[in-house]
Amino acid sequence: MPHLLHIDSSSRSADSVSRRISARYVDAWRQQNPEGTVTYRDVTVNTPNFVSADWVTGVFAPAEYHTPQTRAAVDASSVLISEVEAADVLVLGVPMYNFNVPATFKAWIDQIAMAGRTFAYDENGPRGLLGGKKVVIARASGSDFSNPAFAPMDFHAPYLRGILGFLGITDVEFISVNGQTPEQIEAGLTEADQAIAASLKAL
Ligand SMILES: Cc1cc2nc3c(=O)[nH]c(=O)nc-3n(C[C@H](O)[C@H](O)[C@H](O)COP(=O)(O)O)c2cc1C
Repeated sequence: MPHLLHIDSSSRSADSVSRRISARYVDAWRQQNPEGTVTYRDVTVNTPNFVSADWVTGVFAPAEYHTPQTRAAVDASSVLISEVEAADVLVLGVPMYNFNVPATFKAWIDQIAMAGRTFAYDENGPRGLLGGKKVVIARASGSDFSNPAFAPMDFHAPYLRGILGFLGITDVEFISVNGQTPEQIEAGLTEADQAIAASLKAL
């Protein structure tokens, strides 16, 4: 039974473009996979912990050195990692804030990037342990980064491709809507619908 993890990270609700893209993708996926299951997480409502001293100690300390605080910090991460591990497909609603991802989404990344659990180092260097999953990034931005004038400021897509690849996830697709006016957004969402249909056809 296929399983999808749906995450949103826009601070806006009804007006959010990234939420609309991710919801459309998940709705279409449900239609294509009526037996599939979905886990939903809104990182603006349930914001993941920031990396703390207890977390760092807990991740790297042997079990016998754990305190209740270090154990709790690692357990909170483990919940988020288990959700990723359980998913075949991840649909991540990630708007662009200040040329990168929202801080709430970065907090989620910082919780799921755990040495020994989602990545490891061996004689060949780093090895991601979350392979075999597809990720769809539902991205909204004010500017159009296919414009060469803006492209160098796009740290959002390279960052996401980089960190997900580090964790072993290389099948990453962006479905993007650029612009702020209602006309730009409507046109972008129409294109997004086509991209969603094409993406699901290829799944
Ligand atoms: C705090 C903040 C920072 C933003 N920074 C950028 C930016 O660096 N580049 C850009 O193109 N758009 C930027 N925008 C515009 C948003 O990316 C755009 O409004 C997008 O639709 C927001 O996603 P949402 O509709 O899902 O809320 C920013 C918006 C906000 C609220």
